[in-house]
Amino acid sequence: MTDEHRQPEVNIGLVGHVDHGKTTLVEALSGEWTDQHSEEMKRGISIRLGYADATFRQCPGADEPEKYTVDEECPDGSKSEPLRTVSFVDAPGHETLMATMLSGASIMDGAVLVVSASEPVPQAQTEEHLMALDIIGIDNIVIAQNKVDLVDRETAADNYEQITEFVSGTVAEGAPIVPVSAQQGVNMDVLIQAIEAEIPTPERDPSEDAQMLVARSFDINRPGTTWDSLLGGVLGGSLVQGRLREGEDIELRPGREVEEGGQTEWRPVETTVRSLQAGGEDVQEATPGGLLGVGTGLDPSLTKGDALAGQVAGPPGTLPPTFEQFEMDVDLLERIVGETDEVEEISTGEPLMLTVGTATTVGSVTSARGGECEIALKRPVCAEPGAKIAINRRVGARWRLIGVGTLRE
Ligand code: GTP
Repeated sequence: MTDEHRQPEVNIGLVGHVDHGKTTLVEALSGEWTDQHSEEMKRGISIRLGYADATFRQCPGADEPEKYTVDEECPDGSKSEPLRTVSFVDAPGHETLMATMLSGASIMDGAVLVVSASEPVPQAQTEEHLMALDIIGIDNIVIAQNKVDLVDRETAADNYEQITEFVSGTVAEGAPIVPVSAQQGVNMDVLIQAIEAEIPTPERDPSEDAQMLVARSFDINRPGTTWDSLLGGVLGGSLVQGRLREGEDIELRPGREVEEGGQTEWRPVETTVRSLQAGGEDVQEATPGGLLGVGTGLDPSLTKGDALAGQVAGPPGTLPPTFEQFEMDVDLLERIVGETDEVEEISTGEPLMLTVGTATTVGSVTSARGGECEIALKRPVCAEPGAKIAINRRVGARWRLIGVGTLRE
């Protein structure tokens, strides 16, 4: 691997309220624009998770924090040295897209909470996203106070105070708050310095079996492709442990629903890794961190339109069990973000939307008693007992985050 191509080694979520500048910040740090879907372009909001990689670099001999950069050339004309490559997972800030944000959170090793300096704190999804980080247990956080170019010094200072107050008592208490202008590229060095200090690359055991959380799946063939040049289905997601190699056999769970003799059941799907792309380049072996593209031997009709999003992939026989129903211990929030009423207990028969790993599924509560409940799922999930589950309840027209569950043994 050359100096210039390194696989990303850590996933950093960009979270925060709609339009506070997450996508612009990713662009400033990586030179890429993560909103790549045409619908998103039209609506100007991030719909699906966007990914972009950035290599943080330093200019040897320069002072802190000025030495941090993403440019290959230093101000004095010398060449900068790479520190590490990170992958940004740009979560959507729109209120209707919490499920996508939650499934993204399962692959984040840390997060940058983007808060606009030009609006009162907190805006609804600033609060809801912070709560989600709390629930999923992401505590390596840096706060980017963005759009400081739009406000005067006094407003910026006042807004900074509001942020400090808002995060006190939360998982982000004590997190560095870095004033930036993503659009003007102001203070990016200080932001990189804070990310380097607060969001370390997790220690990983290379001998563990590979486990990939699938966040997207695609059919990359153009319409009209003839069968003899058809390419197999592609999976997009992140390795949470182990290494994946070209040529290796993998299994996907829960797999797919098959009907036999009037009965339906979910069966794992097996295939082979035909190609691997990490950090935008073909590789023979992939390691955790960053978005991985896995070319498989699957019929592309199986992977089309994110059909396999939410599944788990790894060597056959090594994956966690599949649950069509499960029991979980429940921890409810005191109140739903933006509402004043207390969250009511979960009741038998009510539908809930659950996010487990990158999977989002709807379930019906079959029994509920103080602090625990049993759920029958519409779509099964593959998960390790002990896994964290984000619990959403339908309130009016929307699913709202009401608490966190822990999958029982
Ligand atoms: P969603 O992905 O839809 O949640 O929004 P987002 O948080 O990614 O916001 P986005 O980056 O799309 O920015 C929203 C708007 O704010 C765009 O018009 C940006 O140009 C503008 N913007 C972002 N950062 C800055 C900044 O630092 N200063 C100023 N003046 N405008 C900014």
